[in-house]
Amino acid sequence: MEREETVRLLNKDIEDEHGAIFQYLNNAYAIGEGEIPCEIEAIPRGEMRHLDWLAELIGELDGVPSVERLFRRMRDDEQYHAEVFEDLLAAEGSPARASGDVDESSPAG
Ligand SMILES: [Fe+2]
Repeated sequence: MEREETVRLLNKDIEDEHGAIFQYLNNAYAIGEGEIPCEIEAIPRGEMRHLDWLAELIGELDGVPSVERLFRRMRDDEQYHAEVFEDLLAAEGSPARASGDVDESSPAG
């Protein structure tokens, strides 16, 4: 197998590890407090180790570990949070928004 193909496949595995980590943590946090969520929270630590091993292998092959899924997830989460905050501001009838103190042209607004 060519080095580039090996790096591509290892990066696919890294993205799957990112996905697994988020899913386990989301599920644990959704359940709340207790023994079961604590057990679930322990699982992604193993996935993080797998991700680290994959990244090391990619580095040994002079490749670059993928952060695409991680960045896509962060972007999607930020978009979701922006929507939630927009809804909250609309529901509250935000005085800052009403007085024009909020810069609508900036994402940091
Ligand atoms: Fe894993």
